[in-house]
Amino acid sequence: MQTLAGKKILLGISGGIAAYKCAELTRRLIERGAEVRVVMTNAAKEFITPLTMQAVSGHPVSDSIFDPAAEASMGHIELAKWADLVLLAPATADLIARMAAGMGNDLLTTLVLATDSPIAASPAMNQQMYSNVATQENIATLARRNMQIWGPAAGEQACGDVGPGRMLEPMQLVEKCEAYFQPKLLAGKSILITAGPTREAIDPVRYISNHSSGKMGYALAEAAAQYGANVTIISGPVSLGTPNSVNRINIDSAQEMHEQVMSLAEKHDVFIGCAAVADYRPANIAENKIKKTDDKNDMSIEMVKNPDIIGSVAALKSNRPFTVGFAAETQDVEKYAKSKLTKKNLDMICANDVSIEGQGFNSNDNALTLYWHGGEQRLPLHSKKELAKSIMQNIHEKLTSSKSE
Ligand code: C5P
Repeated sequence: MQTLAGKKILLGISGGIAAYKCAELTRRLIERGAEVRVVMTNAAKEFITPLTMQAVSGHPVSDSIFDPAAEASMGHIELAKWADLVLLAPATADLIARMAAGMGNDLLTTLVLATDSPIAASPAMNQQMYSNVATQENIATLARRNMQIWGPAAGEQACGDVGPGRMLEPMQLVEKCEAYFQPKLLAGKSILITAGPTREAIDPVRYISNHSSGKMGYALAEAAAQYGANVTIISGPVSLGTPNSVNRINIDSAQEMHEQVMSLAEKHDVFIGCAAVADYRPANIAENKIKKTDDKNDMSIEMVKNPDIIGSVAALKSNRPFTVGFAAETQDVEKYAKSKLTKKNLDMICANDVSIEGQGFNSNDNALTLYWHGGEQRLPLHSKKELAKSIMQNIHEKLTSSKSE
């Protein structure tokens, strides 16, 4: 998808080993429709050649402020004005220090001073250099001046150390660029999302749960935040990181999720119930670990119904949010989804057929059909991240059309 169509990205490369990833980064940006022009410091050229960067970007690389030929084709001030985004990757400790000091002692730092476009820096250096107070203070200075700081990641480093200082991977930087340019369709809106499974305790060490990974709910939270919404996610136990700028509340059981949702729902414009909430919970939680018995081969657990969280939200009499549910079905998807839409009094339901391998529970991809009163839209098999964006666009349309009615 041409998610960066027409965007002009000035890629500034400084001299760190991660520079070798810039060819891949450039290709992936161009693949998404961006135009990329490359500026390199002298040190960067020790790690990747200007010829490589020219070949992948399709433009000559600029590396000197005193190059008459380069100045004649696109002068440094023109280049500074051309960019929609200046992306500094890798941004070494030295480049960061020079920018913090406001220096313009090479083409790249001069451009940084001369541009009024947004600038994002992706720090990359040895973990000790990154932790050094000087570097930390310089990064804080740049962040205070509104420079975006993307990364670093932590992990194994080229020098053999382990710790923070790895440049974000090319695709992570591409996603950061996409998020940065995303139209802020949901600015001013607040969205509450439930995600993941619930755990219903049997005794202090055992519980009943399900295979929900939380990926869809987290993708929704990420997409909503990228569209500018204020997002809170109420999450069952999952092994996923919290997306940027999303508030996260962790819960275990359906009752805890119900409590949190009901305390927050009226303060939100939209509620999305994406969690796989256990329908029943053990009637009693044993105080001590239940022991195996020698005399009986079976045991039974009495279960009681959990509150229907989304049903409670949809039944709110005042400040009811626009309410969106999910329906995972294994047969007659349309029939069951539509009946849930009506029975639970929802505004929209996202239905999927979980009997098809490779989509739904636990996978990265899914296909959905959105149903609302008076319409439907099919969203074919795609990554959950892409689907989440489509769902958010749809919610945006519904919110704006209900306002204009
Ligand atoms: O009734 P069913 O579980 O199929 O409905 C699925 C939808 O209802 C999802 O949006 C899910 O998050 C929500 N749900 C809920 N509370 C429950 C059960 C389901 O909010 N106890």
